[in-house]
Amino acid sequence: MCGIIGYIGPKKASQVILSGLQKVEYRGYDSAGMAVFDGSKVSVIKDAGKLGAIHAKHDFLKLEGGIGLGHTRWATHGLPCERNAHPHADCSGKVAVVHNGIIENHRALKEEMVKKGHHFSSDTDTEIVAHLVEQGMNDGRSAEAAVRAAVARLDGAYALGILIAGTNALYLARRHAPLIIGQGKAGEMFFSSDIPALLEYTRDFILLNEGDVARIDPRGAIVWGADGHEAKRETLHVDWTPQMAAKGGYEHFMLKEILEQPAALSSAVSADVSAALPILRASKQLALVACGTSYYAGLVFQYLMHRQGKPCAAYIGSEYSSWTTGQEDVLIAVSQSGETADTLGAVRLAKEKGAKIIAITNVVGSTLSREADVTLFIGVGPEVGVVATKSFTGQLCVLCKLAYTLGANKQGLADLKQIPSLSAKILEGKHADIQKLAKAFIKRRDFFFIARGINYPCALEAALKLKEITYLHAEAYPGGELKHGPLSMLEKGVPVIALAPAGPLAPKMESNIKECKAREAELVVLSDDEAMRAEGARSLLMPTVPPELVPLYYILPLQLLAYHMTVLADKDPDQPRNLAKSVTVE
Ligand code: G6P
Repeated sequence: MCGIIGYIGPKKASQVILSGLQKVEYRGYDSAGMAVFDGSKVSVIKDAGKLGAIHAKHDFLKLEGGIGLGHTRWATHGLPCERNAHPHADCSGKVAVVHNGIIENHRALKEEMVKKGHHFSSDTDTEIVAHLVEQGMNDGRSAEAAVRAAVARLDGAYALGILIAGTNALYLARRHAPLIIGQGKAGEMFFSSDIPALLEYTRDFILLNEGDVARIDPRGAIVWGADGHEAKRETLHVDWTPQMAAKGGYEHFMLKEILEQPAALSSAVSADVSAALPILRASKQLALVACGTSYYAGLVFQYLMHRQGKPCAAYIGSEYSSWTTGQEDVLIAVSQSGETADTLGAVRLAKEKGAKIIAITNVVGSTLSREADVTLFIGVGPEVGVVATKSFTGQLCVLCKLAYTLGANKQGLADLKQIPSLSAKILEGKHADIQKLAKAFIKRRDFFFIARGINYPCALEAALKLKEITYLHAEAYPGGELKHGPLSMLEKGVPVIALAPAGPLAPKMESNIKECKAREAELVVLSDDEAMRAEGARSLLMPTVPPELVPLYYILPLQLLAYHMTVLADKDPDQPRNLAKSVTVE
């Protein structure tokens, strides 16, 4: 959830950290802060609010020095306020800590430290780390030994960055939360929760394992494994460029990421899925696990596999443990970030029971990709907007390719090749209509999306997009379910957006549309059938597309609808309240 970054080297640390924090702000944005060592003391600036506002108020760049760390927060323990913002310091002000995760035994440790005379200044679970390190040094340990002893006492999840005055080093620890080391030019090293934060400076990374503790200094990195011994870790060179993670002239990342889908999907449809095939062919019981948007992509796969006669139940990550029979021998885990704690929890449970894991992710070097037996990358480039757009369609491309390759479906595979050009046509062709629709609906408070069959996950995703960033009430139902309850919510003028392509389900969708019209709801019908489209005054005529790819194509205008409604309502589509891009707590 929280974004963290640290730097040691000849540059002005505050400059590097500020630019890095701007890139990881999507992880959390209720408060932020930075600590820099100037050779004699550690200075901290932190406050509640978004990074830009805090910088405007306090000016991070007044912090001088070449060693520092920074944090952008998504609150778990303690309200978002100055006192609870990271970095957190010990009593002496010589130790500064940034943390992503939750220290589960912080209360017991705090009682112990309070008895030893430590004074705590925040409500966070994180502050305990600074005091444990301070206590270790008070007890005569070296800085390094104090860090390792402190980390050994922590339960829970953590990616930690620790600055200790006078050490000319930064200390790191990682367990169940993402943390990478960046290797800069000679004499400089970095750490961060995310690759995009460091792309401006390096594309070479060292990947930390679960339970690792590390020290970085201008000469390089030393890593100690969970067993306490010095260890060599995998290095990674990424081909993402800084431009890919920049706004590139667009007002928001979300709009950029929606409009770049044709190019991004051309890379997704050429993903190599072959490594997953032998495992899938040999599987007896298959399941899929994912959260949020990735789960909706997984639901489409559930439909595809069911039709192919090889059922694959899709589970929400946090629900998997309640549902698993333990019989699955292959689990497909879908996650844009590859860091979602709920998805990783399910993966670890399945692994314990002996299942093989196929990961579908966007992020090379992510925890999921490293814990899976086989990883398929969707390859859509960094997604910075908090809400998923191109990663959803990218996941659909790879999941469809997997299903079609497995089922030797030549027509399906040929259909995938049309995705880049046809998606460009839809995005260009429908953009103006969607802007008008957004204006027309800006005062409405409740939205319903309906669809049937394989199109239902698309309705779910469209409703999720709208509620995530506009904060309006939006729900999705299978068309046939309306009459079993939700119809009571419909009244004059309530927008109902129906996904109703021509095909075997169209007559029943038409009945559902008419049921809504009879309650004077305002229908928007997305269809390639002119007569169906005419059922709604503001409907969209869509091109005829292969039935199984309707979710991929129909979501495009609906992503634009959510985006434009948010901008018209003067809200920030890239950083919706209370949410974070990568959710690393359960
Ligand atoms: C968060 C994001 C969602 C995303 C979900 C799963 O809730 O805000 O946009 O769909 O996590 O993320 P993942 O990285 O696992 O796909």
